[in-house]
Amino acid sequence: MPWDQLARESVLLQAVSVWRDDPENWLAGSFDRLPETVRVNPLRSDSEWTEGWLEGIGSERIGWFIGPGSAWTLPFNRGAAEGDIREMLADLHETGRLTRQEAVSMLPAIALDAQPGEVVLDMCASPGSKTTQISEHLGEAGAVFANEVVNSRVNMLVTNVQRHRSRTPVVVHHDGRYIPRVPESGFDRILVDVPCTGSGTTRKNPDVWGKWLPSGGRSLHDLQVALLTRAVALVKPGGRIVYATCSLDPVEDEAVVAEVLRNSEGVDMKSVRELLPDVPGEAGRADWPSLDDDGEVAVVEMPESMQPPSEQGIASQLPRSMRVWNDKIGGGGFFIAVLEKSEDASERPAPEVEVKMTVEEVKADSDNSPRPIPDEVASVVESAWGALPNNLWLRGKRLLLSTPEVHDVWESERSRRGGRTRIPGGRWRPLKVIHLGLSAARLRRGAVERIVAGAAHELAPRLPNASSEVDGELIDGLLADEETSPDEAGVNAVKGGHILIDRVTRDCVPVWVGVRVSLMMGKAERRILSLKRGLSITEKEEE
Ligand SMILES: C[S@@+](CC[C@H](N)C(=O)[O-])C[C@H]1O[C@@H](n2cnc3c(N)ncnc32)[C@H](O)[C@@H]1O
Repeated sequence: MPWDQLARESVLLQAVSVWRDDPENWLAGSFDRLPETVRVNPLRSDSEWTEGWLEGIGSERIGWFIGPGSAWTLPFNRGAAEGDIREMLADLHETGRLTRQEAVSMLPAIALDAQPGEVVLDMCASPGSKTTQISEHLGEAGAVFANEVVNSRVNMLVTNVQRHRSRTPVVVHHDGRYIPRVPESGFDRILVDVPCTGSGTTRKNPDVWGKWLPSGGRSLHDLQVALLTRAVALVKPGGRIVYATCSLDPVEDEAVVAEVLRNSEGVDMKSVRELLPDVPGEAGRADWPSLDDDGEVAVVEMPESMQPPSEQGIASQLPRSMRVWNDKIGGGGFFIAVLEKSEDASERPAPEVEVKMTVEEVKADSDNSPRPIPDEVASVVESAWGALPNNLWLRGKRLLLSTPEVHDVWESERSRRGGRTRIPGGRWRPLKVIHLGLSAARLRRGAVERIVAGAAHELAPRLPNASSEVDGELIDGLLADEETSPDEAGVNAVKGGHILIDRVTRDCVPVWVGVRVSLMMGKAERRILSLKRGLSITEKEEE
């Protein structure tokens, strides 16, 4: 059946005609492919250059976007870029200068409004577009614990945070409903971007037209409640929780928030309108009918938690949430609610601890789990680089650069295992940490082998022995694949990995110094640097 006929005959359109008086307007704005939209990473030193490139191809700033960095609508649909622009977009994304992200998906991190130095939980994080946005809010200080339950999606999350190259993410692997209370004092802010039926995503996933049924939302409701309930238990007094879905169904939206308010003390909704003043969203609703699987109003057996709240104190708060309809924003449909725990809410009383383990009794974390660099590695790094940057971690053969707050969590008093045993600090357990921070360098046979291209800018100013200032022509020559000797580069005292810094533009390039000096940069980084420096991209680089 053609897509437009499928949409017209869909249960979803029937449901929207119950939720709205003008379903035709919604349908007209819910059908076409989405435009390509991106966020520029303000943590990259050349973010203005990236913005200039976007402007140059006719992109427009998204007016309602607030926060560090900027957001843009490109002059073509999602995935429809061609030729050089297509390649450049891929390069900018791969090198973490920008993140492709649907516009409405940028809203929750804006409402979360994480501040530098805070410790944040992104409870359902993969593929990680919101984790990277939270990292941009945190800048150089703080931590965002990015959690995902599905194995394959954890890998996707690691790939995405590595691509973004910020210091603050810590990827963890738990069922969000049971994520341990670490740090013990609670998180400053928590994003709960739950799995949902995606009824707002028809412009991205046209399959939804044929598949969506009201019973789908009902089957996810309990999981959504359980995730938000855990967030309430894990947030600090005074802390903020953002609950978000890409569904328009009240059973997945307002009903979930109402149920959590019903079962929690000291938690209130905050007005999303005040946090997102220019977003064309409307107030959440306090009433909704039950729908059968034809999308018709019917008497369906629904537990109380899925029904409109009868308590005035809850019903009066629900309009503080925000529904974003596809046609009103010109994008996807979305729902956001913000909850805050009052400052005087008592901290969850620490459950009785039956047994305290000694450090020796605790099983070590897996070998591949990141840990602070051991002393022997620290001395190898210090002698190679002439200084030891703070907040270095080791994961396998990789050196990672992070923040003091991540170390504080490693050191903090750990939480209980099975509710009974307190595990001492100085390790991750009971947290399962898979990856953290920015990949900075690789070790080989006990020595520092090379500095990772994306970390060269971060590391160069701190490493007197591992960097040298050179003339721009030398860097241009390397980018054009000209043979360069250590003598010509003025680095004949060096062997192995090193960083060259352009003494005028301050561009930093990692090189390998052997018989000749060779660039150690991936194709994408190389092509962007060439373009920034006004060089043509040679055929050889394109091989
Ligand atoms: C809407 S997506 C998150 C999108 C992500 N926040 C982003 O912006 O890139 C929901 C995610 O929650 C994960 N998930 C499902 N059940 C979960 C659970 N019990 N605990 C943690 N994550 C869960 C899904 O695998 C999925 O990756």
